[in-house]
Amino acid sequence: MRFPSLTWAPALAALVAALPSPRSNLVVHEKRAMEPVDWELSRKLEPDVVLPMRFGLMQNNLHKLEEMLMSVSHPTSQSYGKHFSPQDVVDTFAPSDETIGAVTRWLTESGIAKERLRLSASKGWIEVNATTAEVEDLIAAEYHVFSHPSGVQQIGCNSYSVPEHVREHIDIIQPTVHFLHRVPRSDMNLKKRSTPEFGKIEAAIMSGPKTNGQQVTITPGLENCDKQITLDCLRALYSVDYTPQSTDKNTFGILELTPQAFLQSDLDMFFGNFSPSQVGTSPQLISIDGGFAQTTRQGFNFNGESDLDLQYAFGLTNPQPILLLQAGDLIQGASFNNWLDAVDGSFCTFEGGDDPTQDGIYPDAVPGGFNQPESCGIIAPPFVVSASYGQDEGSVTPFYAARQCAEYGKLGLLGTTVLYSTGDNGVAGNGGICLGPDGQPSETGKQFSPDFPVTCPFITAVGATQINPGSTVNDPEGACEQVIFSGGGFSNFFDLPDYQAAQVSSFLTNHPPPFTSAQFNNSGTVSIRGSAYSRESPDVTLSAVAGEFDLVFGTSCSAPVVGSLITLINDARITAGKGPVGFINPAEVTKVAN
Ligand SMILES: *[C@@H]1O[C@H](CO)[C@@H](O)[C@H](O)[C@H]1NC(C)=O
Ligand SMILES: *[C@@H]1O[C@H](CO)[C@@H](O)[C@H](O)[C@H]1NC(C)=O
Repeated sequence: MRFPSLTWAPALAALVAALPSPRSNLVVHEKRAMEPVDWELSRKLEPDVVLPMRFGLMQNNLHKLEEMLMSVSHPTSQSYGKHFSPQDVVDTFAPSDETIGAVTRWLTESGIAKERLRLSASKGWIEVNATTAEVEDLIAAEYHVFSHPSGVQQIGCNSYSVPEHVREHIDIIQPTVHFLHRVPRSDMNLKKRSTPEFGKIEAAIMSGPKTNGQQVTITPGLENCDKQITLDCLRALYSVDYTPQSTDKNTFGILELTPQAFLQSDLDMFFGNFSPSQVGTSPQLISIDGGFAQTTRQGFNFNGESDLDLQYAFGLTNPQPILLLQAGDLIQGASFNNWLDAVDGSFCTFEGGDDPTQDGIYPDAVPGGFNQPESCGIIAPPFVVSASYGQDEGSVTPFYAARQCAEYGKLGLLGTTVLYSTGDNGVAGNGGICLGPDGQPSETGKQFSPDFPVTCPFITAVGATQINPGSTVNDPEGACEQVIFSGGGFSNFFDLPDYQAAQVSSFLTNHPPPFTSAQFNNSGTVSIRGSAYSRESPDVTLSAVAGEFDLVFGTSCSAPVVGSLITLINDARITAGKGPVGFINPAEVTKVAN
């Protein structure tokens, strides 16, 4: 574009004056969710450093996602079960021309020449190389260099702003507040790590499981189901008597984050006792971002989750093959966006931009890392995906959470049931820790700490119940509040979806908790964790881990058990010529209400 000639300048000036000035009405768009631990702010970033800026564009029609999801998921809807095709999903949510135009105008009016902007092929991002000085001025941010005692450095800002009139068009901007909390592990000596790692970052830890490590005597039969849950206890409890017929068409995925991995010898030991025909059975490994069933590190903390998940999923759905979604290499690991990228190429390339503070970023150049392109749309989403992992909602930004949550909604449109276990700390977060006044996890915190992604209204959160001591499989179960506290509570991020409205209002009116808005958002307008009615979940399960039988506690086992039951239902539907159930929450709520 040529610079306008002089005669045009006054007219142009008048026109510009009539439009909102690019720097007027700046409003904070995101601020850092968690202060960097161990990282020291070392200096201001030099003004002439060039930053590879990426402006994530807001998707179109996101405000209609809930309505669309309900139309294919509510049992009384005319369109029940009429799931979208992947192309329908892409077309429905691609950013509008209006959005692309609004962000482009803001940038050019702020002095960034149009020639410097590049729209990504998927139209999800506008990219531009800009100096620190330009960026700081544009988004009212201050960039600093942070140093780690190991010598590693990174840049970031605490918060950034955009003009009010473009805010609705912007999803996230990078690099900004999304801060890599862990040190890139180039110099890491794996053996030296004192604490086990559960996936990409400390925050993305498993909801459990835990064990008391005591010697276990296996007692077959249904007499001891209050002390140790077995496959037979679960079958009796939920009246399961069904052998899958359409295993070649049905799909059931179990997510595991490396270094968490199963041991074939543990599966065989479990099957040998409880399901002899399955000895030797292995899951079909789907390697996501270099994920593999590592065997170099073993023990309860490395095998407990994966062994437990697979033993129960296989046992309950026999002979259904199971897809093991094993995500992450041994260096970085992975988080939830990594498996979402793998099952949805449009999430991966169209929206792009995993967050290095949360997700494994591949290729991983560190020696021993997965040095190949990230796994993008490598398999179709399985009909059911079970994940026994979670993180504190307060450890991610609302935009990061919203972007991931929308993706779960899209998987629901495609017909996938996504299950996450709710965690074992009641209304507290990981480690039983609450939130401080700044909304961050704090040892002295007094506010409840919701979990993510279970507060996202588009997944099915699975809590845990137990057979009360002295009771049998024929007695009503109790909610887990003895050994563990099945996770629950209200979100600080997500609004109340319609399908929860009646339950939430009834709960707050008829069973008002003895707490105030100082502890949780009691307005009745926010989503709840444990959003599905989920009673099908054992508390104390028996599992073979690292060569011995353990009693395992936690909601960890709930998700694969519920996933197994849904998989059996899907099998019956597929055998009858129907499709999978997809997003089940509206159906569950309807059933309970009736
Ligand atoms: C930014 O600079 C890098 C390195 O020179 C280049 O590869 C990239 O294409 C540039 N991006 C844009 C949007 O100009
Ligand atoms: C509770 O959530 C609602 C809806 O998101 C919000 O408007 C309100 O400010 C929240 N209240 C508190 C105390 O955070």
